[in-house]
Amino acid sequence: MRIENQKGSESIDDIAIECARASELSVFLREEIYILLERNMRAMYEQNWSWDDSVKRSELEHPSSRFLLAILPRGKDTSVRRRTRHSGSDPCLIGFIMWRFEDYDALPDDPVSRPLENTMEVAYCYEMQINAAHRGRGIGSQLLQLLEAIAWRTHMRKVVLTVFKDNLNARKFYTKCKYVMDATSPSDDPDDPYRAVIMSKSNREQPALSS
Ligand SMILES: CC(C)(COP(=O)(O)OP(=O)(O)OC[C@H]1O[C@@H](n2cnc3c(N)ncnc32)[C@H](O)[C@@H]1OP(=O)(O)O)[C@@H](O)C(=O)NCCC(=O)NCCS
Repeated sequence: MRIENQKGSESIDDIAIECARASELSVFLREEIYILLERNMRAMYEQNWSWDDSVKRSELEHPSSRFLLAILPRGKDTSVRRRTRHSGSDPCLIGFIMWRFEDYDALPDDPVSRPLENTMEVAYCYEMQINAAHRGRGIGSQLLQLLEAIAWRTHMRKVVLTVFKDNLNARKFYTKCKYVMDATSPSDDPDDPYRAVIMSKSNREQPALSS
């Protein structure tokens, strides 16, 4: 799949999307993913909670973690699955989503929950990260649309994610992508002790892919 160039003057036509499980990632990409996550989020975690390298790495490397990667191929071998540490043809990571298929609480006041069920299957988006140099070009929203399409195809009831209350840029982004406060979310009240809210988008309509 190609990403459309929505805004940037420089062409991003060569950015490709790859889908992989954690166990399939090359050593190089695993490290790039961690570096991008830490660069984007460490300060925010430390402000709101705490940052623990080993917890974050094991979350990313967990067997049920799956990735959508926006990559800029740099050479002939663009495989995200190569096991070697580094080569001149290693792809350049522009951004990624890490998600898992999960059983999630089904609350009676959730519009997508069904009578008498306690849990429902969802696609839980753990990470959504775009390299700062490539933001505002439609890459994040296209990655999210792809996750929604996967969730639709696999009959997940909704896509769910957690976002820090004070991450206003990301909250505006998710709102623009039609995510709303989930029935399971802590209150958005600044006096509430939880530092994050849970947002979701139900799978009642087939998502439209823009390219
Ligand atoms: C949030 C993030 C993923 C958005 O990705 P992106 O590729 O820059 O977003 P897009 O270009 O696809 O933007 C889609 C829409 O979201 C909105 N949006 C994106 N970033 C925004 C911002 N900082 N402020 C307000 N609106 C924003 C825009 O309205 C845009 O629509 P437009 O085309 O009409 O302008 C990216 O900024 C990022 O990686 N941030 C740092 C990490 C982070 O906070 N991740 C979320 C953790 S929960």
